[in-house]
Amino acid sequence: MNLISIIKDIQDENALVAKPRPYFNHSIELKKRFTREERAKVLESVGLNVFFFPSEMVTGCDFLSDSGTTTMTNEQWASLHMGDVAYGANKGFFILMNQIKETFGECFFNSLASGKPNAFLFHQGRPCENALFTSLGKIGSNLIIPSNGHFDTTEANIEANKIKAVNLFSSELKDKNSNSHFKGNMDLARFEVLLKSSSYKMPLAFLTITNNTGGGQPVSMQNIKETSELSHNYNVPLFFDACRFAENAWFIKKHETGYGNKTIKEIVREMFSYVDGFTISFKKDGLSNMGGGLFLKNDGLFIKKYPRIPDMIMNHQITTEGNPSYGGISGRDIMTIAIGLKTVTKEEYLSYRIKQVQEFGENMHWLGLPVLMPTGGHAIYLDINKFFEDTKMKPEDFGGIALTALLLANYGHRACELGYFAFGSYDKETRKETFPEVNFVRFAVPRLRYEKQDLDSVAEAVKILHENRHKIPPVEVTYGRDLPLRHFKAKFAFKAIL
Ligand code: F0G
Repeated sequence: MNLISIIKDIQDENALVAKPRPYFNHSIELKKRFTREERAKVLESVGLNVFFFPSEMVTGCDFLSDSGTTTMTNEQWASLHMGDVAYGANKGFFILMNQIKETFGECFFNSLASGKPNAFLFHQGRPCENALFTSLGKIGSNLIIPSNGHFDTTEANIEANKIKAVNLFSSELKDKNSNSHFKGNMDLARFEVLLKSSSYKMPLAFLTITNNTGGGQPVSMQNIKETSELSHNYNVPLFFDACRFAENAWFIKKHETGYGNKTIKEIVREMFSYVDGFTISFKKDGLSNMGGGLFLKNDGLFIKKYPRIPDMIMNHQITTEGNPSYGGISGRDIMTIAIGLKTVTKEEYLSYRIKQVQEFGENMHWLGLPVLMPTGGHAIYLDINKFFEDTKMKPEDFGGIALTALLLANYGHRACELGYFAFGSYDKETRKETFPEVNFVRFAVPRLRYEKQDLDSVAEAVKILHENRHKIPPVEVTYGRDLPLRHFKAKFAFKAIL
């Protein structure tokens, strides 16, 4: 009997519950072992701030960021050797720009010598923001930039230029009973109200895909389209913060009517057809360890309204980063981004990536932990208010900081508070804290790095801490409470148990 007819009678590989990963390990790093006492001593010596804790001692999973932490593929490693590091017009630049056009659309790159620059490379995402907002800050005053949720560096770069950053999170994000798949959407009703009163103050509007500050939740194609229409009706250009564009496209394919049969590439092209420009950190969906870019649509509303800005951005780039053909990225790293952008839109890769994050979140949920559901594409967000709701922990006790310190010291896993401390602020005069709308600890999952066993171990550790939540003491801020971007600088100490 022929083999094909035999196997046709038996369920195929797609029907398996436990499927193999779509990649093999190429190279591995052996860990050093540390005891929890050693970790606790070091963490205490750096004021319980997990950002200061040496990564070498993170013997569990490092969830501080999914940015720049991707394990590169063998093709990316090989491409490093193929890059050249010329000061002008290096080989990788042309390869990357061809890939930019293929992934996002022809309109996002004019040739290098066109005299109409519209593609600017920077060493990561935030200098792109800095270049854009510094230039905008010079052409107007009293400006505001609305978004479905600005990332912290984006907001900081906007406000450093005396522009007001406004977050219009969707109502579904705050609705604990909502099962919406697109909680990252812009609140269109509030956006319209703001446009009616203040569109003349808006140099542009932003959509962060996926919405990192808003629980890593995706934005639907319908919301992208409607935000674009609304914005353009008021003559306001629309930009993406496109760090996780491919993950966002995957959610559109899976959950939005009419997109199931489209390829990720087609969906990405449609998404980018609605915007006039975008900033991107290639450290996320570029699958590279560094790099960022700012791209303006040829003949888009932004370039039409502000024809002087591209030259201002290029001056900024040359004076702060480097020649326009490499920005702040080495010619070798540019090659890894070009390859990363090819890999990231492969459905096999994306499905595995997002399912890994989903299963991690569902596991925590199933263990009774209050995680934001449904999960987004790159991280799990633990709701700290719910975690401590039946304890004496008060908002100014910063339970999220206490939890991350215990998780790191006791189990070697590093997560990050992105809540009342990171996004709150303290007024020295009134001695009052202002708290943001959401209070999360985030577990950002690096791409292509961990296996199920690693993530299961984290869920179990957090469950044990939850069971012991009444024993978790509050923390006090011993340094930096009133500083801007205080979570990167502050120090803490545990107080006596309540
Ligand atoms: N925009 C978003 C949505 C981001 O998530 C980040 C970085 C940036 C911009 C800035 O990019 O780091 O390359 O300068 N997010 C990382 C994080 C740091 O952990 O979420 P960058």
